[in-house]
Amino acid sequence: MEKHNRSLVTRRALLTSALGGAAALTASAVPSRWAIAQAKPLKVGLMLPYSGTYAKLGENITYAIELHVAEKGGTLGGRAIEFVKLDDESKPEIAQQNAERLVKRDNVDVLIGTVHSGVQMGIHKVVRESGTLTIVANAGNNEITRSLCAKNVFRTSFTNWQPAYSMGLALAKKGVKTAAFVTWDYTAGQEMGAAFKEGLEKGGGRFAQLLTLSFPDTNFQPILAQIPSLGVDAVGAFFAGGGAIQFVKEYAAAQIKAPLCGPGFLTEGTLGAQGAAADGIETALHYGDGLDNPKNIAFLEAFKAKAGREADVYAVHGYDAAQLLAIGLEAAGGAIDDEAKLYAAMRGAKIDSPRGPISISASQNVVQNIYLRKVEGGKNKVVGVAAEALADPGTGCKLG
Ligand code: BEZ
Repeated sequence: MEKHNRSLVTRRALLTSALGGAAALTASAVPSRWAIAQAKPLKVGLMLPYSGTYAKLGENITYAIELHVAEKGGTLGGRAIEFVKLDDESKPEIAQQNAERLVKRDNVDVLIGTVHSGVQMGIHKVVRESGTLTIVANAGNNEITRSLCAKNVFRTSFTNWQPAYSMGLALAKKGVKTAAFVTWDYTAGQEMGAAFKEGLEKGGGRFAQLLTLSFPDTNFQPILAQIPSLGVDAVGAFFAGGGAIQFVKEYAAAQIKAPLCGPGFLTEGTLGAQGAAADGIETALHYGDGLDNPKNIAFLEAFKAKAGREADVYAVHGYDAAQLLAIGLEAAGGAIDDEAKLYAAMRGAKIDSPRGPISISASQNVVQNIYLRKVEGGKNKVVGVAAEALADPGTGCKLG
């Protein structure tokens, strides 16, 4: 992925572009500052992981954003789009500094971020202060659309609560009595573990234990060795990307009796590498294989043509981030500063997503179906709906 792909725009080019098609302007008319601003490309910062365990997730989000912009003819709301890409390396410790670079040095108009919940928190600190329009294209940290919500921050993915709570509840409904949860020890793992426990207990099950290791470690053996002695009926897990591939393979090799399950990131975009080790794993997620709505069919084909590989839930998040931005910019006629029109349209958006129809909640997170999936024949086959049109509670969010 290229970095900082800033195109040079001359004043002459700006004027040419501003005047193009504007027959009403006479040769002697001086273009207004508004016309010049509208003619400038809109700078969209992509702060995503392009290296490390989440690299493929960041790449798929990027491909899908670019795909939708290309489908729109390269412009959104009449504005050409210029991307500024930054590899955040999934490192929370440099997240704030990276976000500041995009906002203050590169002057991006919009920031689309990221995969890792801890990195997103760094972005959040910067954009809550700067007021930069931000669309979260993966990271699920609950508080961003709960007590720390902000009018300039929208999310097109999920909260960590949504799929994990649904999985815990579905497990209990299935008659599972006890379960443990294994994950990386950072915001996403902690929040998904807590939500899984909440759902399991709501359904009458008992939560045994949370087992963790540091992100992005993959030394799973000490944890796997503890599981048999817990005597649980099932084990939930949150891992994603490269870490999920290795965990699922090692879990199968350890021949642990308790079946593996979890929020669907465990088997999303990873089945080719996981092979038979993933067979039968049940997960809950807001996307899955076999969703045969027309939008998804077209999306799968277009994504494959662009990226040369299959789409997954991360690609869907990116695609919908671009769809949401397009809706806002079209309503505002490309004027990114017209917050009233921009935010009203984005808050009221009804998006035809490859995952099915979605809307935006009062706290600016996605309202969506959570599907039950089972790995069969190398696919995350949708086998049911765990929750229909599920909204995160958005606890503590007060937007005027
Ligand atoms: C997160 O850190 O929020 C996250 C990362 C990968 C997949 C899902 C959630």
